[in-house]
Amino acid sequence: MKLTLIVALFGVCSAWWCTGHMLVAHIAQQQLLQSNPAVYNFAQSILAPLNGPLTHNIANTFTETACWPDDLKTYGFNEANPLHFIDKPYNPEGMSTPPVPGDNVVWAISNFNNTLTTPVIAPLEKSVALRFLIHFFGDIHQPLHCTTLFDEQFPESDIGGNSFTIVYDQDVNELHALWDSAIGMLEEDLPRPLSDSNWAYMNQLAEWYTRNYTRSDLELELQVSNVATWTIESFMLAKDYAYYGIKVGGTPSPQYIAEARQVVMKQIALGGYRLADFLVSALTPMIQIEHDY
Ligand SMILES: *[C@@H]1O[C@H](CO)[C@@H](O)[C@H](O)[C@H]1NC(C)=O
Ligand SMILES: *[C@@H]1O[C@H](CO)[C@@H](O)[C@H](O)[C@H]1NC(C)=O
Repeated sequence: MKLTLIVALFGVCSAWWCTGHMLVAHIAQQQLLQSNPAVYNFAQSILAPLNGPLTHNIANTFTETACWPDDLKTYGFNEANPLHFIDKPYNPEGMSTPPVPGDNVVWAISNFNNTLTTPVIAPLEKSVALRFLIHFFGDIHQPLHCTTLFDEQFPESDIGGNSFTIVYDQDVNELHALWDSAIGMLEEDLPRPLSDSNWAYMNQLAEWYTRNYTRSDLELELQVSNVATWTIESFMLAKDYAYYGIKVGGTPSPQYIAEARQVVMKQIALGGYRLADFLVSALTPMIQIEHDY
């Protein structure tokens, strides 16, 4: 019984749903196209070897490949699942908690960063590394990808909100899903390849999110380059917004929803800006090396 429950939960344990992931990437893309198109073009050239049928023709662009690490799960490739999060214990009642597993999103970003930037790596490895990095920059900014609750009700943790049931709508009935759906703002999975109208929608979303949270609004956060510190920011947001003011089985209040939506918009914009900044620093030296050959 317990095992089936865990298996069932694993099935739903994804990250920002696909549209949220694409939005993080799309914001990074827009930033790069404005300020550093050479880096954007170079990133596209790294992705290219795995475009087309190798990724089911649904991950052919920088934006769309943001969903690829979750696509893998739907094809039964679950080996990388623990890399999408880091379950830091939120433990208000002082329960005993197991150590945080070492194979987590911080570890994965560090390794894929090495893979991406090491000169002797072949196109396959680089393409895989960049695809995972684009996705994990999204995951790490989702508060419930950095936090799991331990308390009397969840002595073995609520699995990052996956077992914290709530009443919201027919597709969202637990806390993790509420946050993955960007509090209902990005609940619909857009069919890929994206249609022209859905590309226009992505442009609109990127514009809204980046106007609501500009680079200068997030100046302090953008000075933080340490990935482990990003998980602490996310953890604090989970504590102060995801778990605050809601009870198991409850319905999020209008105030909860309004505040949580601001947090989500900020985190998605921030993830996009940080992804763009990371790619500028990681790829610029590689572009120069290629030119030297
Ligand atoms: C990637 O690696 C470089 C070189 O070690 C480091 O300076 C940078 O902070 C790393 N970035 C991320 C996001 O891990
Ligand atoms: C902020 O985002 C909302 C969508 O959530 C949008 O309607 C609004 O126009 C945005 N504000 C700005 C200044 O772009």
